[in-house]
Amino acid sequence: MKNSSILLSEIKVKNYLFKNRYVCAPFDISRADNEGLVTDELLDIYKKRRGPSLIVVEQAAVSSNGMYRKGLLRVDKDRCIEGLSKLAQVIHNNNQVAVLQINHAGSAADVDVTHMEAVAPSAVVNPVVNKSMPRELSINEIGKIKEEFVKAAIRAKNAGFDGVEIQNCHGFLLSQFLSPITNKRKDEYGESLKNRSRLLLEIVGETRKALGDDLLLLVRLGADDLMEGGLKVEDGSKVAKMLEENGVDILDLSSGLMPPLVLKGPAMLRPMIKTIKSSVNIPVIGAGELDDVQIASDMIDKNEVDFIGLGRPIMNQPDFVERLIEKIKNTTN
Ligand SMILES: Cc1cc2nc3c(=O)[nH]c(=O)nc-3n(C[C@H](O)[C@H](O)[C@H](O)COP(=O)(O)O)c2cc1C
Repeated sequence: MKNSSILLSEIKVKNYLFKNRYVCAPFDISRADNEGLVTDELLDIYKKRRGPSLIVVEQAAVSSNGMYRKGLLRVDKDRCIEGLSKLAQVIHNNNQVAVLQINHAGSAADVDVTHMEAVAPSAVVNPVVNKSMPRELSINEIGKIKEEFVKAAIRAKNAGFDGVEIQNCHGFLLSQFLSPITNKRKDEYGESLKNRSRLLLEIVGETRKALGDDLLLLVRLGADDLMEGGLKVEDGSKVAKMLEENGVDILDLSSGLMPPLVLKGPAMLRPMIKTIKSSVNIPVIGAGELDDVQIASDMIDKNEVDFIGLGRPIMNQPDFVERLIEKIKNTTN
């Protein structure tokens, strides 16, 4: 347990001082009300998540046709701001940095919830959730989605968040654009990796402008589809570099079309995280069964990652990180 104190070391990104290396990964708990507004129950749960230096709040939908299940947070209207500002306050009261993840589900949207047709880069059924056949987006509609992401980021800023995280993983819309399995377009948003990353990079560029230079801009990048014929880690590295060049402050890494939970075992994404980290200079968050202190500190010690994201451990026990930190302190003193 000697080097585990590295998990408690501070790190500064821009003007934000992170008091340790633990991050609460975004995981939706479906506790918003029917209109996607923050509830007291949701606030109480976040209040208990003491410990991590950074809370990435679960995905909030940027658009009414982009919700993949009931009970999700929404950030597609100005009236979402009031509840979101209470949530940012709860996180700040725990002395944590607050970032809101913003998402469009694309072909993973649940049409029984949205009562709208699902949309996607191409008419390809989502290979993960296997829902209805989506309709291919027109260029105009792609422009509208870009605006929706940017407006969502502005609402997060107005609610007092320290930044936003653009969701580009786990089979949702932006990962559908990035993957050759789900993107069959023949225009400037399809075929080459550059074209398939275009929407993400445009959103990043516009969001950066809207947030200004001081706030944090994160992307959760699915750097490997974990599927035959899909995005490979070599492509993921190239996208990661483009994101760095376009002003992203922190890269949060996960899998692309397939959720990481298709892999089993401790640190299941470690090789991928290590590869991407070695191709960028900005700080990187890793996740995927990283609750083992030895493994997590070894990864940081070897410069394979900068932050350790935890999902299910915090879902099952909201104060998991607070207790873990106490344990680390006791064993390193
Ligand atoms: C119920 C559930 C909901 C999730 N929701 C999201 C989400 O909203 N956004 C996201 O990027 N990842 C989401 N994830 C993935 C987690 O952030 C995390 O990457 C994954 O659970 C692996 O980390 P863990 O082994 O620490 O749980 C979710 C995972 C679970 C189990």
